[in-house]
Amino acid sequence: MSELSVNHLLGIKYLKESDIQLIFETADHFKEVINRSIKKVPSLRDITIANIFFENSTRTKLSFELAEKRLSADVLNFSASQSSVKKGETLIDTVNNILSMKVDMVVMRHPNPGAGIFLSKHVKASIVNAGDGAHEHPTQALLDSYSIREKLGDVAGKNVVIVGDILHSRVALSNIFALKLQGANVKVCGPKTLIPKYIESLGVQVEMNLRKALEWCDVANMLRIQNERLDISYFPTTREYTQQFGVNKALLDSLAKEIVIMHPGPINRGVEITSDVADSKQSIILNQVENGVAIRMAVIYLLASKIKQ
Ligand code: CP
Repeated sequence: MSELSVNHLLGIKYLKESDIQLIFETADHFKEVINRSIKKVPSLRDITIANIFFENSTRTKLSFELAEKRLSADVLNFSASQSSVKKGETLIDTVNNILSMKVDMVVMRHPNPGAGIFLSKHVKASIVNAGDGAHEHPTQALLDSYSIREKLGDVAGKNVVIVGDILHSRVALSNIFALKLQGANVKVCGPKTLIPKYIESLGVQVEMNLRKALEWCDVANMLRIQNERLDISYFPTTREYTQQFGVNKALLDSLAKEIVIMHPGPINRGVEITSDVADSKQSIILNQVENGVAIRMAVIYLLASKIKQ
């Protein structure tokens, strides 16, 4: 297969396994490009991309912008907090105004689940979901699986535990879809109040005991408690959360095998993982960020190829 089965990247849920493999093979090529002294290719000189962010971001925003520039696309950056959204302009009006400036693709982060899907039905442009509320964060899941593949050789058959706030996490949902599609075994671990009741219907097992989860896994993907999405208290105190679901070096060192530690960022150091774990040789957190550029180059390049047809 040499093209994606989709015209937008709205979620991993809409991808086939062959789409993921195509994205990874394309990312392998771009990873080689961005390690050259001249880190740029002219592939998308005829494409204009708008990055529209209605929520804060460091990694995703900069990574998309860099990926677009490495592909020689023209780039517009839009921050909702400094825009006419503040004067009451709707999402569709905002995007249609941006598109009338001859923009081909929109990368959007939005607090509302389904915002990208809604947009894709109402505007004429290729839409890339850069995180929609607690729904999906597809490029994060792609770069996470790509990083597992790079570290362990394959994703199929690997045991991956996702630890923490599963309920509010778009990273968890996209990772579950991506890992299951590639044949990994997935468990989730966290406070009962932060594990959705439907989770087992996604082919995922629940393990409430962190030590048992870590003893089982090859990879632990540690999630941040998303305080900005918590309207009530889901656990007694942060200290008790850390005692039950935080990973520290002593716990890692007490395991019979060396596991891989991942985190999508931003990290709450000392809450879900201690600094000596985040900065240890078992952690691939910064490799994930590095791979994010190659993965986003691949996604944009493959979607742009469909626009050009
Ligand atoms: N992982 C991630 O989405 O980080 P940002 O919120 O900084 O983009």
